[in-house]
Amino acid sequence: MSRFLKLMLSAGALAFGAPVLAQAAAPAYATLKGNPAAGQKVFAQCRACHVTDKGVNRVGPSLHGVIGRKSGTVPGFKYSKANQSANVVWTEENLYRYLENPRKFIPGTTMAFAGLRNPQQRADVIAYLRQFK
Ligand code: HEC
Repeated sequence: MSRFLKLMLSAGALAFGAPVLAQAAAPAYATLKGNPAAGQKVFAQCRACHVTDKGVNRVGPSLHGVIGRKSGTVPGFKYSKANQSANVVWTEENLYRYLENPRKFIPGTTMAFAGLRNPQQRADVIAYLRQFK
């Protein structure tokens, strides 16, 4: 391949690559199928701060029965103002969005967790959490 062609190709990749990347949005939650066993492994990242036992709060609130629960309502857990007043219901859809980037979903949250960028991992951990109700 000529140098010129190579140059044109890489310029093309730069010009057209960026919009293609920008369009690679996360798939809709409904299109994913979560696997609870895989989710248990993903939950290892949460376990430093959360357990799924009812009424057991650690650094973060108990995640027992989290699906369908209103945000900021676990008894005995001292939430940040941000989480306290977020006023969302933890539907699977909302968890899917929250867990991608918690600080973007609830600006000011004290949950020190960068997020799960992998959509399948989010679906898996949600499938895992669904079991504790
Ligand atoms: C470093 C500790 C830490 C890690 C790791 C962590 N969390 Fe949290 N999480 C918290 C804290 C602290 C809060 C309360 C935040 C606040 O009050 O702003 C919280 C809040 C939450 C809430 C909102 C609960 C409610 O009752 O409104 C959910 C849901 C949640 N975490 C899920 C997860 C999941 C799932 C993971 C793993 C993928 C995870 N967290 C990882 C510390 C953590």
